[in-house]
Amino acid sequence: MKKIVIGSDHAAIEMKSAAIDYLRKLGREVIDVGATGGERVDYPDYAAKVCEAIMQDSEASGALICGTGIGMSIAANKFNGIRAALCHDAYAASMARAHNDANVLCLGSRSIGLGAMESIIDAWLKVDFEGGRHCLRLEKIAKLETK
Ligand code: RB5
Repeated sequence: MKKIVIGSDHAAIEMKSAAIDYLRKLGREVIDVGATGGERVDYPDYAAKVCEAIMQDSEASGALICGTGIGMSIAANKFNGIRAALCHDAYAASMARAHNDANVLCLGSRSIGLGAMESIIDAWLKVDFEGGRHCLRLEKIAKLETK
């Protein structure tokens, strides 16, 4: 999970910028797909940019930020192979990696502060998927995508 593709809507430009700075400080390669300005944009467009990018690059994972993180997570989970997890704390982020092998981290800029954001990112980067019994569950999730 060296490369991280990140996107946000207008509600999370500042948090996205802080997340990019933090990830780069930690030595991660970050690709910012926008949004860039203060004008209102639609979060599904940025969820699509991030998900399409990481679906083509097995080395990459994603981060999506909107006001609540909810819209981004709903949109991202429409994409085959994407497991997006909305995390408000480090415990959720570590479990999303360990049990769900989540490949997109969603954050809510209006729900958490920058300190929480950093601790969530730390947990997200530190924890690996446990595999084992969780693999079958992910396979079952993948089958739901075709329904
Ligand atoms: C934008 O106002 C807001 O709806 C969006 O950032 C997000 O919270 C949606 O889930």
